[in-house]
Amino acid sequence: MKRLNIDLADRSYEILIGRGLLQRTGEWVMAIAKPSQVVIVTHPSVNRLYGEKLSSGFSQANLPTHFIEVPEGEKSKSLAQAEKIYDKLLEWKCDRQTVLVALGGGVIGDLTGFIAATYVRGVPFIQVPTTLLAQVDSSVGGKTAVNHPLGKNMIGVFYQPKLVVVDLETLKSLPEKEYKAGIAEIIKHGVIEDARLFNFLERQFQNILAHDSKALEHIIATSCAIKARVVEKDERESHYRMVLNFGHTIGHAIESLTGYSTFTHGEAVAIGMVYAAKLSQLMGRCSEAVVHRITGLIENFGLPTQLPDLKAEDIIQSMYPDKKTAHKKIRFILVKDIGSIEIVDNVAESFIQEALQG
Ligand code: NAD
Ligand code: GLY
Repeated sequence: MKRLNIDLADRSYEILIGRGLLQRTGEWVMAIAKPSQVVIVTHPSVNRLYGEKLSSGFSQANLPTHFIEVPEGEKSKSLAQAEKIYDKLLEWKCDRQTVLVALGGGVIGDLTGFIAATYVRGVPFIQVPTTLLAQVDSSVGGKTAVNHPLGKNMIGVFYQPKLVVVDLETLKSLPEKEYKAGIAEIIKHGVIEDARLFNFLERQFQNILAHDSKALEHIIATSCAIKARVVEKDERESHYRMVLNFGHTIGHAIESLTGYSTFTHGEAVAIGMVYAAKLSQLMGRCSEAVVHRITGLIENFGLPTQLPDLKAEDIIQSMYPDKKTAHKKIRFILVKDIGSIEIVDNVAESFIQEALQG
């Protein structure tokens, strides 16, 4: 098992990465939180696969354990769903020593984190991510949120988990499309911070596609370490943490214009990275070779690299309500070289238009 630490003063925590960890989570939670009871939030399908394994550790410690099942999909990241969960917690008389456990992907993690931050002004929570995307990205760093009809992730808080438990065994049941969505975020980590990770992905893509366990453990641990380093530098995204949004400005626009149903988040980010790289080249930030390497790697993993049939003008317009744009200027994360990135405010629409058409 690999143990990584994310150093955030009194909000520091460990990320545990390995196999067969679900059953042992109870013992770690007991050691850090002394819970009065445990509430596991998950989806019905994920519960069927992993609920019992996870709860067995809590039962051994004689801890009362409840499950809350929420429907799958982005729609569950809502205030309406949050309210249903608050109702249950109140019904079960959950106090501040209740530990919430998020068992699932980014939807479950973001929703559970939001509830944990707000229920009785905050209870401890544990992330047990079961999608690759959640294991390398959303479970680390404390961004929690629900969606508003006018915008994704618009209602939320920064609230760190007490522990992240990444059990690689859970990836065995993950659909291929979701697996690849996670790969997109790993590629992003290589582009923004780590040329060695990017080179590794280029050399090992076939093994990774074949779920080779050593390669997988390496890229997950490296990704978590990169994310932890970025969050340590700028927990509340006052500036530097924005590098994690490479590919997301266009990616979010694609997701929003296609109704969050055509592409997974990772697929939209993959397309977004290709066009952010093209924009970087147009603006003289990087060479054509960098664009080719990013596009080639994304293609090798079978992720999309082409914009769907959307008007450039619509994509640009939908970037404005994004909370990542400040003062009506479009901010982009541009690539200078593999492993080196620049945050650029006020990118001219004409450049974006040209990049989207290129
Ligand atoms: P998801 O949570 O919707 O999970 C995708 C699907 O996989 C679901 O249907 C789920 O039931 C299923 N699933 C989960 N684990 C499984 C397993 N082991 N085996 C089989 N099926 C499994 O999607 P996601 O890609 O994990 O997360 C997307 C969400 O994450 C979005 O809401 C996005 O905004 C959010 N996100 C948050 C952050 C952050 O920093 N907080 C970062 C990136 C993305
Ligand atoms: N996924 C972006 C962030 O955590 O900041």
